[in-house]
Amino acid sequence: MHQSENQPAGIEIALWQYSRNEGDWNRWMQSLSPDERERAATYRFERDRASFIAGRHLLRRLLSVHTGTSPSKLVLSADKHDKLRLEGDDRLQFSLANADGLVAVATAPGCDHLGIDCERADTEIEEAAVDSYCSADEQRWLAELPARERTRAAIALWTLKESHLKALGVGLREDPRNVAFSWKDGTPFMVGGERDRRWHHRLVESGSQHVVALAACSQSGLPGISTRLFQDDSMPSK
Ligand SMILES: CC(C)(COP(=O)(O)OP(=O)(O)OC[C@H]1O[C@@H](n2cnc3c(N)ncnc32)[C@H](O)[C@@H]1OP(=O)(O)O)[C@@H](O)C(=O)NCCC(=O)NCCS
Repeated sequence: MHQSENQPAGIEIALWQYSRNEGDWNRWMQSLSPDERERAATYRFERDRASFIAGRHLLRRLLSVHTGTSPSKLVLSADKHDKLRLEGDDRLQFSLANADGLVAVATAPGCDHLGIDCERADTEIEEAAVDSYCSADEQRWLAELPARERTRAAIALWTLKESHLKALGVGLREDPRNVAFSWKDGTPFMVGGERDRRWHHRLVESGSQHVVALAACSQSGLPGISTRLFQDDSMPSK
């Protein structure tokens, strides 16, 4: 089904706490390309294989809605930095992330760049690791927080940075300390240099134990964001 023309060209976020059932993974595999199936077979740990299969299945299902092409027929290719593009459609921006049982996909026809990232909110981050990705100001801000808030705040910073670097397409080749954040009225914004008003960053309510961050670059302000919890009610794709 094509997305109808009178639907707003907003940002759609789908979050999926996928099943741990191997029978389901095999079914989702049918929507993957031969290359993806080959890659899935190379994962040593079941958990990583399931996460990859679920991510690509969800991505293909959502892109299929936008393009009207069946999930398994979509051609995805990775650039030299591994950012995915959809062959035949450079207009539709999308991004994919997964972490411990959750897959997140964002799509937006009206953005110039889009990135999403998710991590479990209770992921332990050592002090040294915080130093390796937070700017001096961010480290100070974290240190001043009550201990019970610090872990989640450190994860929020990490996901914001990674979503931004994924939106740019460079990933962690760029030093995350160079992408620093502060907060205004509870909303994160990027600091350093002149503020670029095309960029928007949000933490998204996940309905789970995960922190989800979105980065979007849009000339015409931040498009509306709709978030939904994806349910796998599909039959195998043809
Ligand atoms: C991109 C990157 C930040 C992803 O981080 P991650 O926590 O491993 O994985 P996430 O779940 O957040 O995201 C995975 C998705 O990001 C996307 N992705 C990969 N590289 C990307 C890039 N350069 N730009 C945007 N998106 C990218 C892919 O769609 C991937 O999905 P896939 O596994 O199905 O192909 C990270 O892999 C990276 O920067 N890699 C390049 C540098 C590198 O290899 N460094 C290693 C030492 S630091």
